[in-house]
Amino acid sequence: MKFYIDTANIEEIKKAARWGVIDGATTNPTLMAKEGRDFSTVVKEITAILDGQLSVEAMGPEAEKLIKEAREYAKMSKNIVIKIPMTQDGIQAVKTLSKEGIKTNVTLVFSPNQALLAAKAGATYVSPFIGRLDDIGHDGMQVIRDIMAIYKNYGFKTQVIVASIRNPMHVTEAAKAGADIATVPYNVLEKMFTHALTDKGLRMFSDDWAKVAKSSK
Ligand code: E4P
Repeated sequence: MKFYIDTANIEEIKKAARWGVIDGATTNPTLMAKEGRDFSTVVKEITAILDGQLSVEAMGPEAEKLIKEAREYAKMSKNIVIKIPMTQDGIQAVKTLSKEGIKTNVTLVFSPNQALLAAKAGATYVSPFIGRLDDIGHDGMQVIRDIMAIYKNYGFKTQVIVASIRNPMHVTEAAKAGADIATVPYNVLEKMFTHALTDKGLRMFSDDWAKVAKSSK
């Protein structure tokens, strides 16, 4: 399973990259706007830090505009993946881009049928937003399980990026469902490291280690 970091914040990406377990990053227009910085500069900085794929979003909304944006962004780095919204124009654009070898990530996916359409168009990745489904009282993780089963039935190569992750249990459940990738906000990644018993055990070992005689020989 791969872990991406879901942010456009350079400091967060730098800190997470040091752990050596982050395989890439995803951004979206909201995350970019939050940084209040120039888009191309942010993209260059992220690709210089992370040796993995970076998703950036094309807005279109028409297929021709999405394709034009995608071709431009793809030139920025070999690691760029173009996020394309789950619309009729978006799927049309994905079909064209996939024939050109440009990697796509169909975003704003909330149902198995949307994921099926994205796979048929040749999307490299599909991003179901589970947290936003949970927010409106649906079972986001069930959508992931359904998509995994459907892709397996037909041997689709499209990889599933579990997105809109809100807590560490979302990551565990995504792994149990066999999802290819989880894109995780920095604060949730940090929480994945911790356990009260790890902290307690460390304190105990540290106190006991201080009592052990250590010869300088
Ligand atoms: C995924 O690629 C999106 O950037 C992200 O996961 C959306 O999450 P949100 O619902 O927390 O905005």
